[in-house]
Amino acid sequence: MNITYYGHSCFGVEVSGKHLLFDPFISPNEKAAHIDVDAIPADYILVSHAHGDHIADLVSIGKRTGATIISNYEIVTWCQGQGLDKGQPMNHGGQWTFDFGSVKVVNAIHSSSFPDGSYGGNPAGFVVTTPEGAFYYSGDTALTYDMKLIGDQHRLKFAFLCIGDNFTMGVKDAIRAAKFIDCDDIIGMHYDTFGYIEIDHGRSKAAFAAADKSLTLMRIGDQIQK
Ligand code: NI
Ligand code: MN
Repeated sequence: MNITYYGHSCFGVEVSGKHLLFDPFISPNEKAAHIDVDAIPADYILVSHAHGDHIADLVSIGKRTGATIISNYEIVTWCQGQGLDKGQPMNHGGQWTFDFGSVKVVNAIHSSSFPDGSYGGNPAGFVVTTPEGAFYYSGDTALTYDMKLIGDQHRLKFAFLCIGDNFTMGVKDAIRAAKFIDCDDIIGMHYDTFGYIEIDHGRSKAAFAAADKSLTLMRIGDQIQK
């Protein structure tokens, strides 16, 4: 799997020859000013919830690429109203098999209104299972015991966990989340974008290492392989 970081909680994952894009928020992010939004590939766009810092570039990228939107029923329906007619409406506990692998929608403790205040369904995370391995994308969430179910049911190769605190889990809770999901290889997200969620990189990595976990903090625009 090729993983590209576009800032905040936005990642591209290339797997089984398909491009998955998560929570596109690039153009309003000053830290991602060097990213060419019009060059980001997407066959599927997975959207964890409706907050602006997760959907800012959803409609423009969706229209340009013709990607299939994978999200909750409310967000997929809203996308159809915006002219994005390819969607897979899902909800918590549901799993669906696509040509790259399967997606299971799992719980997230957060909120999910659109920027105009309209209802965005319930916030979610995703477990993506592919021939190249399985991974978990937490979305925005608090630490929750429900994560133990993910560890019980899936053998994760790596996980994207929010670590910025204030709006989501911070580092301490994310380390416990990594234990709950039984995964040692964590890629951080939802940190440094705003003043509320700035983290100390060295201390955060050291805290994960002290718990025998690895925290990767990708530079925006960088690509790694898993
Ligand atoms: Ni949010
Ligand atoms: Mn957020």
